[in-house]
Amino acid sequence: MRVGSVVSLLIIVLTSRSGTVAMGSELDVPMVIAHRGASGYVVEHTLPAKAMAHAMGADYIEQDLVLTKDDQLIVLHDIHLDLVTDVAERFPGRARSDGHWYAIDFVLDEVRQLSVHERVDRKTGKQVFPGRFPLQKSSFRIATFSEELELIQGLNATTGRNVGVYPEIKSPAWHRQEGKEISPLVLAELRRYGYLSSDDHIYLQCFDPAELRLLREKWHTNVKLVQLIGSNSSGESAIDYDAMRTDAGLAQVATYANAIGPSLGHLWSGDKSDGRFAETDLVTMAHRHGLQVHPYTVRADDLPNGFASLGQLLSQLLQQRVDGVFTDHPDQCRKGLGR
Ligand code: G3P
Ligand code: CA
Repeated sequence: MRVGSVVSLLIIVLTSRSGTVAMGSELDVPMVIAHRGASGYVVEHTLPAKAMAHAMGADYIEQDLVLTKDDQLIVLHDIHLDLVTDVAERFPGRARSDGHWYAIDFVLDEVRQLSVHERVDRKTGKQVFPGRFPLQKSSFRIATFSEELELIQGLNATTGRNVGVYPEIKSPAWHRQEGKEISPLVLAELRRYGYLSSDDHIYLQCFDPAELRLLREKWHTNVKLVQLIGSNSSGESAIDYDAMRTDAGLAQVATYANAIGPSLGHLWSGDKSDGRFAETDLVTMAHRHGLQVHPYTVRADDLPNGFASLGQLLSQLLQQRVDGVFTDHPDQCRKGLGR
């Protein structure tokens, strides 16, 4: 074999899977991040969903965090309680004029009285994912952040595993408008449970770049930070996520964050089943800036346009060399990723 060919071969070997993963990635295959727990099987963000995710071999388990009126951190995806609890029946007079029951208007003792169920559609009242845990069955409650951390750490102790946590600070600017600083309370709770350094098994995520900068530059956290990337077209935020997905935007993100969390739709355009499918260069650009890439959300019962199976979707993600995947189905992802 000619010297040139040997060099080429070496380059191919060295730039295979592990060589292209961003610095700081923990595994040479994508990490499995249990999105709201094993939420494909048990009601999202409940302790049983988190225990199931742990048992299914998730590497990290996600917590979305909002504050109650008495400044308690609870694990809840929305800032309001409407779509996953019986708050309307239990506290009929407590909605704001916009028709929402906000968690921040309830003290923890009241939140604890609520029954939690599968997410329903606001207009139809039907389950968003029809094949998931049946409505009106069993009994589920909202957990505090500390209860969830103690569950995960307890399961780590009894199983000998070291499953990480992946909290998301929800709507920090909105909390501020309501007179509350959520981030310092999150950091205090993390400190209390030993999540302090960049080596600890934690990623702290937020959609708001200004808040992530505050976390790094004002509150001086050393934990790994994840810039979530939303959509300009959703109209929910003034943040320019399109600019964030450019090379210059990612260079900025890399000054304060360790990873990005794009939606699956940011990794390609078109429909997988027709000739218009094309990968974007987001993962390559992010890796060039030293950022890991953890896209959301892989759902076995809700595949992106044109994908015929979960296996096909996971193959696509492996091919694009993502570093982790948020999933409602951690067991199926683990299997499909060859873990
Ligand atoms: O945090 C990753 C993913 O969960 C972002 O979307 O709306 O499910 O919190 P969301
Ligand atoms: Ca989230």
